[in-house]
Parts: sequence; C-alpha cells; structure tokens
Amino acid sequence: MIVTIDGPAGAGKSSLARDLARKLGFRFLNTGAMYRAVVLAALERQVPWDDQLQLEQLVDQLQLEFRDETVLIDGRDVTDPIRSPEVSAAIHFVADNARIRRRLIQWQREWAACGDVVTEGRDQGTDAFPDADCKIFLIASPEVRAERRWRQLRQQQPDLTLEQVLADQQLRDQRDIDRPCGGLREPKGSFRVSTDEMSLAEAVDHVARIVLEIQARTAHEA
Ligand code: C5P
Repeated sequence: MIVTIDGPAGAGKSSLARDLARKLGFRFLNTGAMYRAVVLAALERQVPWDDQLQLEQLVDQLQLEFRDETVLIDGRDVTDPIRSPEVSAAIHFVADNARIRRRLIQWQREWAACGDVVTEGRDQGTDAFPDADCKIFLIASPEVRAERRWRQLRQQQPDLTLEQVLADQQLRDQRDIDRPCGGLREPKGSFRVSTDEMSLAEAVDHVARIVLEIQARTAHEA
C-alpha cells in the first residue's frame, strides 16, 4: 500500500509521515531529504548549476540511503548537513530541474515497489504516485506554520523574529507553487487534513484511521 503526504513547508508532514509509518509498520520516505542530498553533493563537488550533464551524472552515481531519519550519501551520514542554510538556499536549482525531478521520481517508485510505504513531499500524490491507495494533503494556516518553525529555530538563532520566519515561508510557499514542474498542488482524490487544531499524536491517529479504513475497504472488495 502507498500512502502519500503532500503539503506546504511547516504543515508537519515529516513528523506525521514518520510517526504514521512507525504506527502502521510501513517504510517511510522523506523526499525533501532527497532533494537536499542532491544539492549538498553538488555543492561539495562544485558542480555548476547550469551544467545539466554533470548534474544528471551526479544523480545517477549517488548512492542515497534512508534509514529511518538518517540520510546517507555514499555511506556517509549527512542528516545534519542537508538541513544547512546553504543547502536550503540552493534547493530550487535542483527542485526546478525537470530532468532531475524525473530521475528522482523514478528512484522513489523503485524504492516504493517493495512493500508498504508512507512517502512525503510536494508531488508525491500528483506526479510520483498518482494512483496511490491513500493520498493526504496536509495543511495548516501560515501563522501556525511560521510559529512552529520559529519555536524550532529560536534556540539556535535567538535574534530571529516570527515576522522573518513568516516572510521566508511566504517566499518558499510561492516558489513551491510556481515551480515550472512538480509544483505543489492538491492531489486529485486526496483527503485534506488541517493540523491547526491538532497535536501531532492526534493528526497521526486521524490519518491512521483514514488509512486503515481504506485498507479494510480494499480487502473487502478484493
Ligand atoms: O521537505 P523539505 O522542506 O525538506 O524539502 C526541501 C525542498 O525540496 C522543498 O522546499 C521543495 O522545494 C523541494 N521538494 C520538492 N519536491 C518534493 C520534496 C521537496 O520539490 N517531493
């Protein structure tokens, strides 16, 4: 069974997808981490962003591994470096590149081919798995998302204001929506879930109930 979780930054997709996968005994794929890993590898190897051939070769050669929340490139743990501001600032060079996206989607499909998965990103229920068994579109108001992010960041960045986080988020949302390929859209046939009024545990229970209902219905129909 394939469960996709898409939505804007800060809606709580990663935590929800991770905990949902644990609860259901499914594997979990964080596709944002894939995009980040490609950016980190390109920065480290000094691949110019306009060198399409080198970028594609890099993606073809990269050995990406996902073990729960740990991300490895060629066996090296890059879980922290892929979250650096340098990587975030350059992400559009990879995320806007249609040919790289096609390769990453191919990789995601191969990864999902063996067994039950929860996969999380921006295009999982639209482009990567349009026939997924269960599609979730996770949303939250801009204010709630920005406040969550600000609380996460303020220990490392005490001068950061909530207004700055909100402004950055607006920019990111717009980029994700306007992307020339793989832009954020609500997948057809998806369940829209707002996390504004829900704790993480409540959201996980809510989505787990949806998944289990679909599983039961599919088993009944078979
Ligand atoms: O999920 P996260 O915020 O870590 O993703 C990093 C960036 O990668 C997003 O801002 C988005 O631009 C891009 N992305 C994407 N398609 C996905 C997952 C992430 O374009 N499936």
